[in-house]
Amino acid sequence: MKENYNFYNIIKSLSYAMDLISKTLVGHHKRVAYVSYRFGLKLGLDIKEMKKLIAASLLHDLGIFYLDQEYQDLNSDDENNFHAEVGYKLLEQNYFDPEIADIIRYHHHDYSNNQNQLSNIIHLADRIVVLISDGKSVLNQVNHIKKVIENNKEQFCPECLKLFPELIENEAFCLDIISEKVISKELDNFFEDIDWKLDLDELINVSKLISHITDFRSPFTAAHSQGLAAVAPALAEKYNYSKRECKEIKAAAYLHDIGKLMVPTEILNKKGKPTKKEWNILRSHTYYTYQALSTSPKLDKIRNMAAYHHEKLDGTGYPFQLDKKDLNLSERIMAVADIFTAITEDRPYRKGMKKNKVEKILTEMSLSNKIDKDIVATLLENYNEINQLRIEKQKNASDYYQDFREKINEKRLFYLLKETSNELYK
Ligand SMILES: [Fe+2]
Ligand SMILES: [Fe+2]
Ligand SMILES: [Fe+2]
Repeated sequence: MKENYNFYNIIKSLSYAMDLISKTLVGHHKRVAYVSYRFGLKLGLDIKEMKKLIAASLLHDLGIFYLDQEYQDLNSDDENNFHAEVGYKLLEQNYFDPEIADIIRYHHHDYSNNQNQLSNIIHLADRIVVLISDGKSVLNQVNHIKKVIENNKEQFCPECLKLFPELIENEAFCLDIISEKVISKELDNFFEDIDWKLDLDELINVSKLISHITDFRSPFTAAHSQGLAAVAPALAEKYNYSKRECKEIKAAAYLHDIGKLMVPTEILNKKGKPTKKEWNILRSHTYYTYQALSTSPKLDKIRNMAAYHHEKLDGTGYPFQLDKKDLNLSERIMAVADIFTAITEDRPYRKGMKKNKVEKILTEMSLSNKIDKDIVATLLENYNEINQLRIEKQKNASDYYQDFREKINEKRLFYLLKETSNELYK
């Protein structure tokens, strides 16, 4: 049976996870999506354009994660344009819908040099959302928002500007923007009857893109999910999993650390042992993986494989303290594969472990009833073959990561030299 996944739900998962990274502007992507959506309705966009508009809005700032920036740093135009360019590059290189990549690329461009209508809508929606400060009533901020947009009207598309007063003077619209519940309901309703299916191969592609967003935040983890995406399906094959099941486990491997977006890079990049407090933050990543992937019952199987990778058979894992009666074979495979990948992969501050040490660690863990004995035996029986797959996959991922970072740095320098600072939104 060819089961289909809904693209909107996957984007929602990613958008949720991206919002975890910023403590100052949680919900930014959703808010921008909602404002864009309302403009889209008023402009009479057709369903096809609406889909693209909302998807692009929900992802528009994804380039930020490569720049170690928080949203509040993004007030000057040079950096704004730059993160848009980074997001575009990432999407474009990872076989994403080229139109959505383009919309994101231009989401901070002024109207005068931007022909892309959907980018123009997001540009204005983004500015409106950024101008709202959460500390005070949104209705008391309407005049200020109107004034700033009016003073900078040459930046925005005239068609949108025409509709802007009517929207912003509507109290319910303003209050909707700050209501997560309303936004989710409205967008979910919109997508309920809309066919936007992904098959499993497409889901794998989107999941791989997500793994770049989660892994590339730190050089320490740059190739981790890719390694797991080689090891876990290879192990599953040894258990005669069908092609389809192997693909599901692969998608889960790419997604397993999506919740790590909430871990600050200082903690991800720490060379020594984490403190107790840091450890608690790190441990919560699988909880957020679970939450991020809870966007559709169709994703539940993949979500569980992804989110239970730190659970242990004796119930001492996290975050749910599941035990052997709760954990199925695929979830156990993920747990073993994750440990194997983590201890064998090279990190910038240490080399991966050698075979005898890996054998010792995995055997001890299985004997103390932490991980599945049979899976460990299968892995050790096929050690060289599976390890070789991991090495190749991680080598490709590291090369891509290095190349991407270099290109970003070159381009960033170019931007910083070229752009002049802009006092506009201060
Ligand atoms: Fe942006
Ligand atoms: Fe934004
Ligand atoms: Fe993990």
